[in-house]
Amino acid sequence: MRLFIDSANVREIEDALSRGVVCGVTTNPSILAKEPKSDFKTLVKSIVSVLRSAPRPIPLSVEVFSTRPEQMIAQACDFVEAFDYEELYVKIPIGWNEFKVIHELKKREVKVNCTGCMSFNQALLAANAGADFISLFYGRIRDAGDDAFTVVEQTCSTLKKAGSKSQVIIGSIRHIYDINDAIRAGADFVTVPPQFLPQMAAHPKTDEVVRQFVKDFEKWLE
Ligand code: E4P
Repeated sequence: MRLFIDSANVREIEDALSRGVVCGVTTNPSILAKEPKSDFKTLVKSIVSVLRSAPRPIPLSVEVFSTRPEQMIAQACDFVEAFDYEELYVKIPIGWNEFKVIHELKKREVKVNCTGCMSFNQALLAANAGADFISLFYGRIRDAGDDAFTVVEQTCSTLKKAGSKSQVIIGSIRHIYDINDAIRAGADFVTVPPQFLPQMAAHPKTDEVVRQFVKDFEKWLE
């Protein structure tokens, strides 16, 4: 199962990549705004330079920060030129006017991650518009009182049956069990907030058994 890291922190990204546990990076304006204040392009370029040194291609999603379609197209093209990174996916929020943006960017061969999707219907339209990635927000779907598992399951199985090229990324992870559920529901990728990665690796019974093995062997060595 393919896991991404939901972070714009160079150290966190480097750390996760050095352990080989993630194969992609997602950011959004709020995540970028958690970093110490700096120049947007400089920050993204520093992430790109870490990704370039990885042994395999690492997709990076960066979101436009305008609500006006023409500006979104201009920003997306500017990102492509400024970051010059083959694996760059420009995040475009889901919306009626935004489909024109996605459609236009696809004509220009820009990779698109259609983000902020909360429903099956939105995801279906995003796939039809040609989004390469569709980001469904697990925790926020649940916050709205909907059944996030069913939304993911219905979306992923429908896209697979239809032979769609769009791949589904599940974001808005609030608990490590959300990751299990999203995978069980058929997600192509789950983007994990960095603090959950070490939690996923930990289990009290693992600590117990490792302690026991070392203790037994030390006793035998005496
Ligand atoms: C996904 O690509 C988004 O960056 C993210 O997971 C949004 O989640 P939030 O609900 O934590 O803002």
